[in-house]
Amino acid sequence: MGSNNSTYILAIESSCDDTGVAILHNDKVLCNVVANQEIHSQYGGVVPELASRAHQQNIVPVVHQALKQANIDKTQLNAIAFTKGPGLMGSLLVGSSFAKSMSLALEIPLIGVNHMQAHILAHFINDKNQKKPPFPFLCLTISGGHTQIVKIKDHFTMEVIGETIDDAVGEAFDKSAKILGLPYPGGPLIDKYAQLGNPNAYSFTKPKTKNPLDFSFSGLKTAILYFIQKNIKENPHFVEENLNDICASIQYTITSILMEKLKKAVKQTQIKHIAIAGGVSANSEIRKVLKEAENKYGWTSYIPKFEYTMDNAAMIGIVGYYKFLDKQFDDLGITASARIKF
Ligand code: KG4
Ligand code: ZN
Repeated sequence: MGSNNSTYILAIESSCDDTGVAILHNDKVLCNVVANQEIHSQYGGVVPELASRAHQQNIVPVVHQALKQANIDKTQLNAIAFTKGPGLMGSLLVGSSFAKSMSLALEIPLIGVNHMQAHILAHFINDKNQKKPPFPFLCLTISGGHTQIVKIKDHFTMEVIGETIDDAVGEAFDKSAKILGLPYPGGPLIDKYAQLGNPNAYSFTKPKTKNPLDFSFSGLKTAILYFIQKNIKENPHFVEENLNDICASIQYTITSILMEKLKKAVKQTQIKHIAIAGGVSANSEIRKVLKEAENKYGWTSYIPKFEYTMDNAAMIGIVGYYKFLDKQFDDLGITASARIKF
């Protein structure tokens, strides 16, 4: 334990294309620095090799910036937390190697963190604009790589009760955006155009899955592709002329699918404390509908602060803090892993 129950943790997140470094004092975030990698937008998706090279360039300056912003010296740190997976292997290796060397040099504990668990525990960051969910609660974890409904029994005990059998919901947004000719990542752009459109302008059929709590989004992507191809044949300017309505309809369909599954999960588990997490939980329609569910269905909704939804290191830091309290440390033999479960 740091002195007088005071713990400073430096956290590193490098699972995909953003280099994040945060410093936490207990469960409070002192700084949360993210260096975005612009390089990928011209390729229409994240290029793993370019991502790991950019992490290598970013990591040292971002760590320095974080220490400066938090106004602490590295000798005050009590532990180093880092993302051990899931994610892109090359990117994870940059963060994990750096974290290992820092813990070795400073002679402080090393804590490997599961990225998906971190998205969920971001709700436990002590921030006046966030309320912490009580156990047990359900979390809809939606990102570019994952779509899951998770039952959270305590900080470390989580059970996936539904997940995608093909594309993640973030991919559904990004691939639909690509079909519309929008740059990567298209999710935030669909959100932006949808605000000015009619969500009922077009309808797309919703997929069926064997397990009622599972998701499937690859059929939706194909349906949107055929729909656009068919309409472009009749009117080459169809997309430009109807962009807002198309985006609103796609977003409405995706949101309805997510809400239907959540309603089933609530019925099955009888848990009415519902959280959302992951990059896609930045979506304004999803946030709005979940808030409305409080009055409509009697749920209590937990919607993370915007800066804790997308990939960030503060969420890695909060898991680091709980693991620190529980003395769950890792030794230097820990390896990053592209695929890990809870
Ligand atoms: O959690 P995240 O930052 O990275 C992963 O771990 O995947 O999630 C990124 C995903 C991308 O697919 C991006 O398009 C999507 O989150 N996203 C959004 C919005 N903001 C980010 N999707 C829909 N609406 C948004 N406002
Ligand atoms: Zn993520």
